Amino acid sequence: MNSNTDFVPALGRHELTGQYDKVIALMTRERRWREALLTLAAPGAGETILDVGCGTGTFAIMLKREAPAARVIGLDPDPAVLEIAKAKAEAAGVTVDWRQGLGDALTAVAEPASLDKVVSSLVLHQCPLPVKRSILSSAREVLRPGGVLLIADYGWQRTGLMRLLFRQVQALDGFDKTQPNADGVLPQLMREAGFVEVGELTVTPTPTGSISIYRAQRPA
Ligand SMILES: C[S@@+](CC[C@H](N)C(=O)[O-])C[C@H]1O[C@@H](n2cnc3c(N)ncnc32)[C@H](O)[C@@H]1O
Repeated sequence: MNSNTDFVPALGRHELTGQYDKVIALMTRERRWREALLTLAAPGAGETILDVGCGTGTFAIMLKREAPAARVIGLDPDPAVLEIAKAKAEAAGVTVDWRQGLGDALTAVAEPASLDKVVSSLVLHQCPLPVKRSILSSAREVLRPGGVLLIADYGWQRTGLMRLLFRQVQALDGFDKTQPNADGVLPQLMREAGFVEVGELTVTPTPTGSISIYRAQRPA
C-alpha cells in the first residue's frame, strides 16, 4: 500500500476514524439514505461497481450482499479505514475487491469505459473543489457508455436549519471544501464532467444537514 496522505480522513481527523461507524449511524440517519442509495444502485449479477472513497466499507458490503454475483471494488486512500472495511467484509462473509488509492486516478483500478456503475457516498463534500471536479471526471472516464454515477452526499442545504446543522460537518472538514456542496454545486460539476441526465433524486434531512442522492449517466 502506498502512503498517500493528500486526503481528509473519514471524520476529519485520523484519531477519530475508529468512531466513524457509530458517528455516522447516529448523526446521519444512515439507514434511510443508504437503503435509498442501494435501491437506486440496483446492483445486478455480472455488473462491476466501484465505490469511490468507500471508507469503512459499509456500502460496498451492502452492494455485494444484495448482488453476490456482482464484482464490487471498494477504493479509498486511507489504509486505516480499509483495514476496518476488510474485517467487516470478512465478518459478513462477502468478498469485495478492496484497493487503496485516490478517486481522481480511477484508471489505476479500472480500464477506461469498463464499469457499469460508480457510487460514492459522503466523499465529495470533504474534497477541495478541483478534487471534486477531477473525481467526477475520472468517474466518467471509467464508466462504460450509458453507465450510471450515483452520489450520496451533503448537497444543497435548502433551509436555515439545515445550513446551521451542516456547520458541524464544516467545522470538522473545513469551510472551503464543504461550502460549494452546501451551495448546491454538485449537479453543475457533474454536467461539466460530461455527465447527462443529472438529477437530485432524494433529499434526507439529518442532524448534520441534508444528504442528497444524485444520479447521472455517461452519454451512451
Ligand atoms: C466521510 S468518509 C465516507 C466513507 C464511506 N463512503 C461512507 O459512506 O461511509 C470519506 C472517505 O473519503 C475518503 N477520501 C477522502 N479524499 C478522497 C479522495 N480524494 N479520493 C477518494 N477517497 C477520498 C476518505 O479517506 C474517507 O474514507
